[in-house]
Amino acid sequence: MRTKVVIIGSGPSGLLLGQLLTEASIDNVILDRVSQDYILGRVRAGVLEEGTVGLMDRARAGARMHKEGLPHDGFSLAFDGRDHRIDLLHLTGGKRVMVYGQTELTRDLMEHREHSGATTIYEAANVEPHDFDSHQPYVTFEKDGATRRIDCDFIAGCDGFHGVSRKSVPETALHTFEKVYPFGWLGILADVPPVDHELIYANHPRGFALCSMRSQTRSRYYIQCSLNEKIEDWSDERFWDELRRRLPQHHAEAMVTGPSFEKSIAPLRSFVAEPMRFGRLFLVGDAAHIVPPTGAKGLNLAASDVHYLFEGLLEHYQDRSNAGVDAYSARALARVWKAVRFSWWMTTMLHRFPDTGDFDQRIQEAELDYLTHSVAAETALAENYVGLPF
Ligand code: APR
Ligand code: PHB
Repeated sequence: MRTKVVIIGSGPSGLLLGQLLTEASIDNVILDRVSQDYILGRVRAGVLEEGTVGLMDRARAGARMHKEGLPHDGFSLAFDGRDHRIDLLHLTGGKRVMVYGQTELTRDLMEHREHSGATTIYEAANVEPHDFDSHQPYVTFEKDGATRRIDCDFIAGCDGFHGVSRKSVPETALHTFEKVYPFGWLGILADVPPVDHELIYANHPRGFALCSMRSQTRSRYYIQCSLNEKIEDWSDERFWDELRRRLPQHHAEAMVTGPSFEKSIAPLRSFVAEPMRFGRLFLVGDAAHIVPPTGAKGLNLAASDVHYLFEGLLEHYQDRSNAGVDAYSARALARVWKAVRFSWWMTTMLHRFPDTGDFDQRIQEAELDYLTHSVAAETALAENYVGLPF
């Protein structure tokens, strides 16, 4: 079998790239280790920057997102018993974000791919990229007991943090950067109306809390927790009690609670692998970088990588120029590091660090106070939150 681009991974990165290529009549095949249902069962963040919304439209997969997604013009920072609203629309000269779950975005892309007739092979075992330092790369995998091979021009490694693509690169060719945070997020999904129509990021002496949503009737809430916590120890009642304690009183009183149908603990880390291109293999999305979820940049960074790679491949096939492909890693990394910085900064400003002394605590308080009294500081936050331009 032969195609132009083999895409390893059918998460948002792989599906978005696949759909953009298919729309541009560039043949591609997506391979994933797991099933479609397994992928759709994963719960992830849900705030889309305008650039990500634009790419969904360009992939012609944006219709349901526009119908069911919730445009948000601002969000709140809660601390010291009060709220401070960040007016994104006003501060950025008209930009907003769209609240739409990653699971829904993934489902839309999968449906469009199916309609377009492009090939996706799920439950492909032992996927392996080969000879990507030559002009004739290929990918092998096992399916239904047989080993198969796809020859191609390029390989896009969209296979997430634990995927095979990054691991196929010689260690000496990779420079990795990592920061692990000393806490996690305990998150729940529940069919109760959100406590507020916008998101609330709360800094509290008991730890960070986030009030988010998936729709007018489905809420997504998180609380900072120790990495030693066990999910079995967190009854719904205990979760709701702890969440309420971390919010200003008017929100705590307005909170509608109910049974959760998803509950999990996620660790927080920042990670970047450089470069993001090795000959004819490209790393895209979580395969190349991870950010803590504070600021909701994970999916949006994956989308900006896809944008740069798609533009490069388009130039290669339509204009016979490799300039865009050659510039992919540098362009993507310049944006990645700015989002890594922003996610780290928001995480540092809003969480309680177990070993933080008085000095760091006062710095955090000064940072929040500065933000609420300086339009310049608020503007910098808003500009990053809605997403820096591609
Ligand atoms: N072979 C084939 N497929 C693989 C392999 C492998 N060895 N390893 C992983 N995969 C698949 C996974 O099963 C998964 O479906 O690659 C896909 C990677 O998807 P994601 O982890 O979702 O990564 P990505 O598409 O880059 O998504 C960007 O945005 O909100 C953030 O972290 C969040 O997943 C999100 C990310
Ligand atoms: C979510 O809705 O899951 C969410 C929203 C904002 C974040 C992180 C997660 O910063």
